[in-house]
Amino acid sequence: MDSVAEWLRQPGFAGTFATMGADVSQLMAAVFTTLFIVGWFQAKRGEGTKHHWLMLGGMIAMLSFFTSYYLFRNLGVLAFEGKEGFGGSQWLYDNVFLPILTIHIILVIIGLIMAVYMIVLGYRTQFISGARRLLREQVLQTSWGKMLGILGVLAGLVITYLLSLVALDRFGMGKLAVWVSLLVIIALVMVLEKSIQRMWPNGARRHRVLGRFTMVIYCVLFVTGSATYTMLYILYPGKIG
Ligand code: HEM
Repeated sequence: MDSVAEWLRQPGFAGTFATMGADVSQLMAAVFTTLFIVGWFQAKRGEGTKHHWLMLGGMIAMLSFFTSYYLFRNLGVLAFEGKEGFGGSQWLYDNVFLPILTIHIILVIIGLIMAVYMIVLGYRTQFISGARRLLREQVLQTSWGKMLGILGVLAGLVITYLLSLVALDRFGMGKLAVWVSLLVIIALVMVLEKSIQRMWPNGARRHRVLGRFTMVIYCVLFVTGSATYTMLYILYPGKIG
């Protein structure tokens, strides 16, 4: 664990002022963005099965990479620790750097939620006809009762897990906060899903519209992430990093 954290703090491979951590992260962002764009074109061409495997595999890989990476780097974003990470002027920091970084972080959160949401929606909407995987062109609604049922089961699992941590003496308030926040996010997405269902009752249409929205978010994420990287590690490197 320590040696990985240590390695991530070494100078990066791209020859900029970035650490290895920042370079690996930027490289992975490029790989995942390219992968998802390929998946988008597969869907457009009607290659549902290829699209399904690429999106499912890609999203799971992306979620695992970025969560473990952030655990190692503690969110890494130097800028939130103060201005030391950024070597440019105060004006540039307040009016350019911080707004881009803030948009980036908000989109990261939306992007993570959309990844899980789209996979669930993909599974709920698809059907297999011979060798082809297609989207069912029909109304796809979930009742409050069913949503509450799912939330209840998830809450039950979380409570069991937390109680087992208490029994093993490994419980901590931090863990409680993380799991409760996760349940709250799922509940909020369910409330939002109710309005989304009213807007696009047809499941296939919902998958296409929200899929495009998700893809646009990923592209903007790549642009804002690269802009942050360029400013921090090429144009205006600070004291750290
Ligand atoms: C985060 C993950 C996903 C995103 C962003 C996404 C996005 C999209 C988009 C944008 C389209 C419409 C393409 C277009 O017409 O412009 C589409 C179609 C489709 N998606 Fe997904 N999708 C995701 C995951 C999945 C999963 C997990 C499945 C299957 C379980 C799936 C099955 C399909 C199918 C069958 C189509 C229709 C292809 C056709 O028109 O024949 N998708 N998706």
